[in-house]
Amino acid sequence: MELRDLGNTCVLGLQWGDEGKGKVVDLLLEHFDVAVRYAGGANAGHTVVAGGQKFALHQLPSGVLRPGVMNIIAAGAVIDPAALLGEIESLRQRGIVVGDGLRISDRAHVVFPHHRREDVVAEKAARPDEKLGTTARGVGPCYTDKVARRWGLRMCDLYHPEYLRQRLAEIIAQRTAYFGAVYESRESFDAAAIAQEYLDMAAQLRPFVCDTSLLLHQLRTQGKRILLEGAQGSLLDVDHGTYPFVTSSSTIGYATGAGIPAAAVKSIVGVVKAYATRVGTGPFPTELTDAVGQTIRSRGGEYGTTTGRPRRCGWFDAVATAYAARIVGPTHLAVMHMDTLSGFEQVKVCVGYRLGERRLNELPADAYTLERIEPVYDTLPGWETDLTNCRKLTDLPASARAYLDYLSERLNVPVAIIGVGPSRAQTIIVTDSE
Ligand code: GDP
Ligand code: IMO
Ligand code: MG
Repeated sequence: MELRDLGNTCVLGLQWGDEGKGKVVDLLLEHFDVAVRYAGGANAGHTVVAGGQKFALHQLPSGVLRPGVMNIIAAGAVIDPAALLGEIESLRQRGIVVGDGLRISDRAHVVFPHHRREDVVAEKAARPDEKLGTTARGVGPCYTDKVARRWGLRMCDLYHPEYLRQRLAEIIAQRTAYFGAVYESRESFDAAAIAQEYLDMAAQLRPFVCDTSLLLHQLRTQGKRILLEGAQGSLLDVDHGTYPFVTSSSTIGYATGAGIPAAAVKSIVGVVKAYATRVGTGPFPTELTDAVGQTIRSRGGEYGTTTGRPRRCGWFDAVATAYAARIVGPTHLAVMHMDTLSGFEQVKVCVGYRLGERRLNELPADAYTLERIEPVYDTLPGWETDLTNCRKLTDLPASARAYLDYLSERLNVPVAIIGVGPSRAQTIIVTDSE
């Protein structure tokens, strides 16, 4: 792959999130002018290790770490102003000034304290088998209110003080009555104080808020190179993921989320880990609850970037990931954490599922069936060698290369990027001649 030839590109995860999108975005941004977050909110946690420092980005695009990159949070994302200002401030304390390089869509919906409250009380009230294991950032309730069209407020609404005060008072009265009736939650909110707090925060964000789809159109017209940064993963997509154990946004909907024509995006980099992880609840056919799973977790540092929760770990699920790849259509594959699999004599890849006597070759739709299927594995030779110093494809042992070829064939996507460690340098870029 020649990075500079990618054209406008979307980077998105093909599993259940945390595939290493932040690292891939950061790496590719050397060749781009604009970074766009088009879905999700503070539920995301994208890690970038740059200049020996580790950064975790939640709402801000990873381009904030690259001077000169314009960072856009588009209409498909949701904005928690307090968390966003906190993120900007904590970066400032580490010497990263977001400054003028940020734009926020005036159409993006806003997360309020009652959303965060609903996220928590709804989870608490759910039956154990119905808990979603959300990140409790209020993102789900905010998207719910957006789609319901009765209780949603957008960034543009924060610049009409009287309207905001009145609407927020009505919305909070309705929502707290609902929480009280359904969840027996008695917490009250001071609507006037919240309105004032949001007006103050909106004033601080004012220079950044605009029609970002118009801006993206102008930037494209000027020939600027645009990188769309997916959040969550394809298997967490509200339409195509393992519903209901998904997030609340269209994680693969980069065109609608960003407000640009799909045809304007030339390349799609699908990011996967060399194995699989999932944080929160929900079906995970290849989950390893044994010592192998623990080894992957400790070697890979598999703890949530946003919540710190231990991630569930398992073998690569080629059925679920091929399903995601078929929907998303990646032009390139980034396989991360190859170094984490070092030391296993054998590695496994799920190539089908067994449901009683039946063999399934496709991902079932319903969580009920998904919880009952047993993975059918192919077993491949592992590799003992430490890969963290490999910088070229030819540095990798034959079995690691064979594993990558195998994944590429299963997903029908060429491997372009290989992760062998968390830092920028610990990456192999597969060039066209290889
Ligand atoms: P994202 O949400 O997709 O951006 O991924 P996260 O940042 O939540 O989780 C990925 C984790 O893996 C982070 O701690 C990264 O620093 C780390 N990481 C990314 N690529 C590699 C890799 O190739 N090897 C290792 N060992 N760590 C990696
Ligand atoms: P990044 O962008 C991994 C999971 C949660 C939970 C479900 C719903 O870092 O890959 P939500 O708070 O969104 O309503 O939670 O989705 N989840 C993620 N898992 N990576 C993420 O983001 C996630 N964002 C949400 O754990 O199971
Ligand atoms: Mg993450």
